[in-house]
Amino acid sequence: SFTHTLMVAILPALFSAEEQRLELSLNGKWRLSNSNGSLLLPAEVPGCVHSALRRQQYIQDPYFRFNDVSYRWIALDNWTYTTTFTAFKQKALLIFDGVDTVASISLNGIVLGKTDNMFRRYDFSVRDLLKDGENVLEVAFLSPVLYAAERRRAHSSYAVPPECPPDVQKGECHVNFIRK
Ligand SMILES: *[C@@H]1O[C@H](CO)[C@@H](O)[C@H](O)[C@H]1NC(C)=O
Ligand SMILES: *[C@@H]1O[C@H](CO)[C@@H](O)[C@H](O)[C@H]1NC(C)=O
Repeated sequence: SFTHTLMVAILPALFSAEEQRLELSLNGKWRLSNSNGSLLLPAEVPGCVHSALRRQQYIQDPYFRFNDVSYRWIALDNWTYTTTFTAFKQKALLIFDGVDTVASISLNGIVLGKTDNMFRRYDFSVRDLLKDGENVLEVAFLSPVLYAAERRRAHSSYAVPPECPPDVQKGECHVNFIRK
């Protein structure tokens, strides 16, 4: 179910392809916000939305009793991770491992690409996009529940069972339409 499989953000490492290769880890403190901006909080990367909300005491333990059901809104919202880092204009590769799942990634306001599979690595060459000084990296996640439902609607040629888990599991539908 999506309620227990959380949005995990990445651990990107940034390095130049120069002879003496530099690596810059972008692990650490990022900022996290929801769609309408009502929540804006610090978040660890690697980490997930639920753990960030828990750490800031917006939610209790999502595994306790029926909290997973009360916190279903988290998986229905879209969440954006943002960080800033200092670099300089040069050839570089931005590497993402474990982006979970559907996200649009942008650097300094330019979209680098999209992700839709948390089981693979995504690399983006950012040759001209790095700036001397401060750079802004953003990973904007789309609700996995919304995405899976959209994919299901788009796939009309034949059924891919099961549509939904048994009611007693209180899970989300169409999990077979997302690589999460
Ligand atoms: C903003 O989003 C939160 C979380 O989904 C929701 O509870 C709240 O009602 C929303 N606020 C507005 C003004 O839409
Ligand atoms: C999340 O993003 C999708 C696509 O842009 C949008 O349709 C949906 O309304 C957004 N969800 C919320 C809670 O704002």
